[in-house]
Amino acid sequence: MSDDVEPPGIRRSDPLLPDAEGSPVHVDGSDTAIWDPPDAVVSFHAGPRQLRRLLDAVMSVAADLELATVLQRIVEAARELVGARYAALGVLDPTRTHLAEFITVGLDEEQRARIGELPKGHGILGLLIVDPRPIRLPDLGEHPDSFGFPPDHPPMRSFLGVPLYVRGEVFGNLYLTDKEDGDGFSDIDEELALSLAAAAALAIDNARLHERSAELSRLADRERIGRELHDTVVQRLFATGLAMQGTLQLSDRPDVVDRLNRHIDDIDDTIREIRTAIFALEMARAAGPSLRNEVLDLVTRSARVLGFEPALSLDGPIDTLVPDHVAGHLLAVLGEALSNVARHSGAGRVDVTIRVDSDLVLEVADDGRGFESGVARGGDGLRNMVHRAQELGGRAAVIPGTESGTTLHWVVPLPTGASTGSS
Ligand SMILES: Nc1ncnc2c1ncn2[C@@H]1O[C@H](COP(=O)(O)OP(=O)(O)OP(=O)(O)O)[C@@H](O)[C@H]1O
Ligand SMILES: [Mg+2]
Repeated sequence: MSDDVEPPGIRRSDPLLPDAEGSPVHVDGSDTAIWDPPDAVVSFHAGPRQLRRLLDAVMSVAADLELATVLQRIVEAARELVGARYAALGVLDPTRTHLAEFITVGLDEEQRARIGELPKGHGILGLLIVDPRPIRLPDLGEHPDSFGFPPDHPPMRSFLGVPLYVRGEVFGNLYLTDKEDGDGFSDIDEELALSLAAAAALAIDNARLHERSAELSRLADRERIGRELHDTVVQRLFATGLAMQGTLQLSDRPDVVDRLNRHIDDIDDTIREIRTAIFALEMARAAGPSLRNEVLDLVTRSARVLGFEPALSLDGPIDTLVPDHVAGHLLAVLGEALSNVARHSGAGRVDVTIRVDSDLVLEVADDGRGFESGVARGGDGLRNMVHRAQELGGRAAVIPGTESGTTLHWVVPLPTGASTGSS
């Protein structure tokens, strides 16, 4: 699909490569081009004023640790940076085929309310999802992929969209519309937006790490409190109860015996209440999202883009045997594999198999058109799957089907000693 003739009025470039043709973009009309080293993410042609604005934008984005705030800041900074009337950030769902979140600036509350639901990611917004490279359009309405706006949407003409990569994976897209002074977005605007996107990626990554470690320390606290209650508080109460039983024998005054008996009952009740509380703490821990459920969820949701539901086979106690950090990789690889099937294979059937014993094995077999021989291009999807496998000491391979189609085979070893299932 990347070999198709680009529609008129569109200029796309790969954010990771200088330019499709390898030629620099001249914005100053001169023909002396300064080319950045090939490993530079963006080649820069902006002036000092723009660089200062970019720096301000980057600083404002990096200043917070909470993900929701970071995302909001990114959208605001992007809008100001390129002088757009409206800006939005679309966050992709785990299948990377739909928008899970859509954060806007420039629209007031009433306008937002009148537009209604957030966009699903069809039309122009969908272009960036299918093929995450920058897009610039002088007029949104004239593009063949345009679906038009919903009835109460303010008119928007010029458009600039750039993908946001976090750790080598598309996290979402930045959309900017209606350049405020005149003739649409320029090369420089695109460069600025790409640079901001690169900085934003770091801020997002940082915020996510922060949230994750906060979550982990909450879990650790729970565990610690539960242990403390059980080992210290309950044991003490128990011992006190026993001692009081002993005291009971020493007294022959009926009123004292009566009172001691009531205190002992109180202590028993308290112990029962604490045990219930410990149990509740443990349940809260166990009820976290199970990997099995997350896999089911991902597979079910992928039906929307595949047009049919994959057949899923789960073999072995995946919730007990697969540690969290491996689970994250598994879900990412499965999501990418299903998105590849939907985007590239034209398959009518997919079989997803997950097996655990000493290894964790994921297989995604489609009956589609198979890999075209000599596919030299392509994105980061397959490469990332291989890296994820290697990081865990495993391997990934793409195997052609016997008659048609493709099977992705992804295997990683599981830590030994986890297999007892007890804790
Ligand atoms: N299930 C499949 N059937 C047929 N071809 C496939 C399949 N999966 C991948 N491919 C081919 O392999 C190429 C590389 O896939 P890869 O996931 O690395 O990149 P991409 O999907 O094009 O881009 P990205 O994953 O970065 O969004 C694809 O462009 C496509 O040509
Ligand atoms: Mg892919």
